[in-house]
Amino acid sequence: SALSSSMDEKFLKCLLQDSNAPSDIVFTKEDTEFSSVLQSTIINLRFSTSTTPKPVAIIKASKYSHVQCAVLCSKSFGIRIRIRSGGHDYAGLSYTSYDNDQSPFVVLDLKDLRSIRIESSEKTAWVESGATIGELSYWAYQESQNLGFPAGICPTVGVGGQISGGGFGTMVRKYGLAADNVIDARIVDVNGRILDRKSMGEDLFWAIRGGGGGSFGVVIAWKVNLVYVPNIVSVFTLSKTLEEGGSDLFHKWQYIGHELSQDLFIGVSIQPALNKAGNKTIQVTFSSMFLGTVDELIKTVSHGFPELGLQEKDCTEMSWIDSVLYFANYPLAEGINVLRDRTPEPRSYFIGKSDYVKELIPKERLDEIWKWCMEENNVFLVIEPHGGIMDEIEETSTPYPYRKGYLYNIQYFENWEDDSVEASKKHISGMRMIYENMTPYVSKNPRSAYVNYRDLEIGKNDNASNTSYLEAIKWGSKYFSDNFKRLAMVKGVVDPDNFFYHEQSIPPLIMSK
Ligand code: FDA
Repeated sequence: SALSSSMDEKFLKCLLQDSNAPSDIVFTKEDTEFSSVLQSTIINLRFSTSTTPKPVAIIKASKYSHVQCAVLCSKSFGIRIRIRSGGHDYAGLSYTSYDNDQSPFVVLDLKDLRSIRIESSEKTAWVESGATIGELSYWAYQESQNLGFPAGICPTVGVGGQISGGGFGTMVRKYGLAADNVIDARIVDVNGRILDRKSMGEDLFWAIRGGGGGSFGVVIAWKVNLVYVPNIVSVFTLSKTLEEGGSDLFHKWQYIGHELSQDLFIGVSIQPALNKAGNKTIQVTFSSMFLGTVDELIKTVSHGFPELGLQEKDCTEMSWIDSVLYFANYPLAEGINVLRDRTPEPRSYFIGKSDYVKELIPKERLDEIWKWCMEENNVFLVIEPHGGIMDEIEETSTPYPYRKGYLYNIQYFENWEDDSVEASKKHISGMRMIYENMTPYVSKNPRSAYVNYRDLEIGKNDNASNTSYLEAIKWGSKYFSDNFKRLAMVKGVVDPDNFFYHEQSIPPLIMSK
């Protein structure tokens, strides 16, 4: 529902006045650029249709005072706020709202708040939230070819959202999550104050490093540790169909993917394909990054995973920054400047769901899983190992609880181009079928999920004025396990009136004294 026009005017006046902001940071539906600004970082077309609820305004902050002003004006006018950094939220929660009370909302877009300052003597960086993972990787590498950052695999993801939910990629086994490498932060709280680690206190600092974006305030910058990467890393991608022994290799991988050297990451993707005879099969693809040379890689793999039969010709040595391009499927020949381009991913309609696995899936059950995947032509599974340093970090050390004992994460992902409602229904139901069928093989009580692969089907808040901790724990414990209670208690202290609300924000739990 739109604001009444007089309120609209007052709200706009508040935004413009308090911030001394030039009017080109606030865009309303009357502005010709409104749509292009809104769409600029939307990559999931499911939430960019004519029926998708739209904000009453977009505030494109380029200074911290714009963020403060957006929070204070929105609060005093009872308008909700959606915080957007890179816009990659799977459920579009950074730019749309399905709130049942249909409150008007604004999008606070941090895309232009993106400076990165490297402190070379400390090997740290202050990164503003609107910067992308690609930009952070690029500038770390510019500082030194031995500096990198352990984040997720897609360079256009925003550091604001990703670090808020954890963040894992090819260095997760060596250095943990992106959030594990945060040492300070700046946040605008519900009262419009800018707080750092010291002034926010350790509870809030704990909560923002993995408790999911959009619940505690607006993170404007993170201070992160940059990590050591060698001059040369090695990569390989090897695919085997079922006929070529792909199933047995996956079975073996389950034993060792989490146990191999911390320098070695071997991820797996499972995809329907056609075999040489033109029949349907499954292609099991191993994609790997090793922090060392090809010689060392071959030694490590022939010791821990000899069945893979890895040979020198399968492997390529490159710089760490080129491996960032390699995993993003960017052509190496185009060079690393592409990491600064901020060119959005190709847009499509997509849905994702996730699971964690603690016990090996028995060999004889794998065929059943491959059958379901073959029935659904488009769903693919992206499977990423844990283990390594993840086993050494306490499960309460950040809100992300999947540490010792978790072997791997599965992401079910499906994307499509057809904009019809039928296409969308068909794809979503195929995905649900596989997810349901997987129930016996994945973590239980609760069945876990990764907050950065946001999935509103596991449960959500109803509306802002009526969130219930006891209702929310049903889905909240799936993301955060026992850490959910502490998250809700922190929320009860820092935002008791639930201003920072969305469909899966942490509800305030207020303990009576
Ligand atoms: P976006 O701006 O949409 O924000 C996501 C959520 O955080 C929203 O709820 C938003 O309100 C909130 N938020 C954003 N900025 C905030 C801020 N400054 N302060 C407070 N709250 C804020 N993940 C991973 O771990 N490893 C991977 O390899 C990948 N790969 C990947 C590929 C692709 C193509 C996609 C679409 C996504 C991934 N992800 C991933 C998941 C990704 O980490 C997740 O979607 C992040 O939340 C996206 O962060 P953005 O800033 O881009 O999103």
